[in-house]
Amino acid sequence: MTSQHQQWGSRLTFILAATGSAVGLGNIWKFPYMVGESGGAAFVFVYLICIALIGLPMLVAEWLLGRRGQKNPVDTMRILARGNDRSPAWIVVGISAVLVGAVILSFYSVIGGWSLYYTLQAGAGRFAGVDVAGIELIFDTLLASPSTLTVAHTVFMVTSVAIVARGLKKGIETAVRVLMPALAILILILLSFAMTTGHFGEALRYMFAVDLGQIDGNTVLAAMGQAFFTLSVGAGVMIAYGSYLGPKINLLATARIVILLDTVFALVAGMLIFPIVFANGLEASEGPGLIFITLPVAFAQMTGGTAIGLLFFLLLSFAALTSAISLLEPAVEFLDERTRLGRAWATIVVGSLIWSLGNAALLSFNVWSDPLPIVGLGVFDFLDVLTSQYMLPLNGLLVVIFVGWMLDRHGALKELGLSGRAARVWGILMRVIAPLGVTAVFVAGLVG
Ligand code: TRP
Repeated sequence: MTSQHQQWGSRLTFILAATGSAVGLGNIWKFPYMVGESGGAAFVFVYLICIALIGLPMLVAEWLLGRRGQKNPVDTMRILARGNDRSPAWIVVGISAVLVGAVILSFYSVIGGWSLYYTLQAGAGRFAGVDVAGIELIFDTLLASPSTLTVAHTVFMVTSVAIVARGLKKGIETAVRVLMPALAILILILLSFAMTTGHFGEALRYMFAVDLGQIDGNTVLAAMGQAFFTLSVGAGVMIAYGSYLGPKINLLATARIVILLDTVFALVAGMLIFPIVFANGLEASEGPGLIFITLPVAFAQMTGGTAIGLLFFLLLSFAALTSAISLLEPAVEFLDERTRLGRAWATIVVGSLIWSLGNAALLSFNVWSDPLPIVGLGVFDFLDVLTSQYMLPLNGLLVVIFVGWMLDRHGALKELGLSGRAARVWGILMRVIAPLGVTAVFVAGLVG
């Protein structure tokens, strides 16, 4: 380990940063609409199994790599491949991880921009008393306007860059120390409101009364993909965050905490969104528009809707921001360590490239909506599908194979503090169950 590489200020700030990365649009925007589209409790059930069996080994594997490498994901893979007498070609995993993180941020930031825009709209009382058609018009007008989308995306990107440019301690740690407690408070306020709607029990039954007969191949694949996305694995983010870890931190115990918090945020997001949906006779299966259309419809009608709406979209924006800064980190760490640019310029360069790609993505909602040749999708959808369905699972698969089969086993088990039965269970998870599970997502992504 090089002594000059920075480290997290404490275990707590690391937990806040990792949880901040994990908890994001994936929990509050994507999870509830996927539950709604995939029929409720059956999806939730499979999702929880995927998180435990695949998510946990994936997260620990990335941190383990990062902590051993003490470098950006590219050099971490180079150093560890060499140190374990493995092919130098493993560096490709690091390179593709850094790239995929950057690509995800390009479209993630567009939705982050929507969150900011909706925060302003809600705060200005724009939803108050507006009917369903009017709410839909607000959403459609936003999507149809390249300039509004660009401004929102730019503000979101500039904020993320401004935080990351200040470095690990002054930037990322300071941001998560403020934003994460704020997030916890906001979600508790909203949850207590949801409990008063009179439809809380109905929401709980919808989410937790599992009918095993409803589980099919699609449920499993959707749930597994979501497990990856929500835990931020497969894109070098957790490798980069792991590279700032000191030797004392217990990876397994810490991963359990981060996963628990991420899961709680997703479930609570569902518990506060579905009661509002049911109380207003809206459709749970609405799809990606669920929180941008149905919730404002509900906020428009309810007493205190302006305040609740403002809190909700503020929650969404904060959650998106702490994930966005983590998505910048792998590429920034790479450029900072490999060039003489320095941290601030490295962030500006990376941020500008991602911003440009994001602009192409947002144009596909309006002036550039024709599908791209060959792939048959618009830019936004193409980037989303390319990363979530192909690159995250592929990188994830290679990472668990590397950690499970290429690193020295005894060293890894010792580092995780495992022996006897626990070590055997862990071996099966890391070497067999996780790789097979990830292969299933990947193959299904290829054929589907
Ligand atoms: N996990 C975040 C969310 O749920 C998004 C995210 C951050 C992410 N870093 C990532 C997704 C790395 C995949 C890979 O919104």
